[in-house]
Amino acid sequence: MEICSIRESMAREGQKARVRGWVYRHRASKTAVFVIVRDATGIIQCTFKPDSKNFADAEKLLMESAIEIEGTVKKDERAPGGFEIGAECLKTIHLAERFPITKDQSPEFLLDNRHLWVRSRQMTEMMKIKDTLLVSAREWFHSQSWTEVTPPILTSNACEGGSTLFEIDYFGQKGYLSQSAQLYLEALIFSLGKVYSITPSFRAEKSRTRRHLAEYWHLEGESAFAGNDDNMKTQEQLISHICQRIAEKHSAELKELGRDPEDLLRIKPPFKRLEYDSAIKILQKKGIQIEWGADLGTEEERELTANEKIPVFVTNYPKHIKAFYMRENPKDPRTVLNADLLAPEGYGEMVGGSERETDIKKLIERLEKESIPIKNYEWYLDLRKFGSVQHSGFGLGVERLIRWVCKLEHINEAVPFPRTMNRIYP
Ligand code: 4AD
Ligand code: MG
Repeated sequence: MEICSIRESMAREGQKARVRGWVYRHRASKTAVFVIVRDATGIIQCTFKPDSKNFADAEKLLMESAIEIEGTVKKDERAPGGFEIGAECLKTIHLAERFPITKDQSPEFLLDNRHLWVRSRQMTEMMKIKDTLLVSAREWFHSQSWTEVTPPILTSNACEGGSTLFEIDYFGQKGYLSQSAQLYLEALIFSLGKVYSITPSFRAEKSRTRRHLAEYWHLEGESAFAGNDDNMKTQEQLISHICQRIAEKHSAELKELGRDPEDLLRIKPPFKRLEYDSAIKILQKKGIQIEWGADLGTEEERELTANEKIPVFVTNYPKHIKAFYMRENPKDPRTVLNADLLAPEGYGEMVGGSERETDIKKLIERLEKESIPIKNYEWYLDLRKFGSVQHSGFGLGVERLIRWVCKLEHINEAVPFPRTMNRIYP
């Protein structure tokens, strides 16, 4: 008999089905053996009665054994998912050893056994949602005539400051793992207009936080003839589209993760906009010790959005705390034309974006002020010499968005094999 998926088997009430997967739960008594089987589409309970020919083999199964089961599909209110298979035949493809992951393991143990923990329901649900995030992002960009490009990961430039660079020995020359594709995307707008990329980005983050990874997935866009407002409009449309798709496709997974799909359906443009100036005043009113000029940290971002249901743009930060490439605000040269997008419910920054400085003199001044060797940026300065135009772009941390969408405690739950300061294994 042909194999069907577990989801397909549930549409075969009263008929025979043959499913294939791994033992998710196993319980044996004298009167029956209950095996819950898992595949990529779901779980189903299979019940072996003592008179079934493979009863003894079913009794011996251990968690995560690979099996094939054939039987008759029945409705059963008590079974998880509402259906069960009255098992008639069992084939053990691989009898597993005793699975090391049992209930109530420490987070550290689960990280050491990540290659096995990736089979868990939570990780599986997260990865399915992440897939939809990436597919729907591409879908949106494509529908708006943006071009996906493939920038390098090995680079000689620091885009986001020297302190979080991973240095590599590039054939005897100093090289780095990319922190952001931005500078390369800026070069590509001159031929393609609106470009985006989805790449790993690397940050040697030496602090342990719940929202920093050493390696994360970065979705970046850059557009010619776009100002800071256009940039925000792009982001709110893109993120709204992603949220709608995830809600439509994954309502069951979201509910299991504790996220109400309605929370995502509510994400629609326009998002709230708040100037940095006003943000500081709001925070001071709440009694938080912060002065104009200081960067917003985890605490401040949480205070600003704890009661928000949709994302909030904080705009026009002080120039001296932001990267050299952000355009000086013509109305207030102490600030730049930028926007950080904060997730709802206090989850913090998800996107960093800005209009880019086109004034080559100002760019050189900013590089010098930060003691960045101009020599390495000559190619970048060239972009201001040959048909320079107003342009803007942004970078979205995929795991930051997933963390909010899936209500995850720690960002390392938003990636199958997290890379953090203390972990490169497995
Ligand atoms: O704000 P960032 O540093 O901005 C840039 O890299 C720009 N060059 C992007 C651009 O304009 N093309 O990083 C962008 C986003 C952050 O908002 C955050 O979501 C994510 O990248 N991010 C991290 N995510 C996980 N772990 C880390 N260590 C991250 N650092 C930044
Ligand atoms: Mg940022």
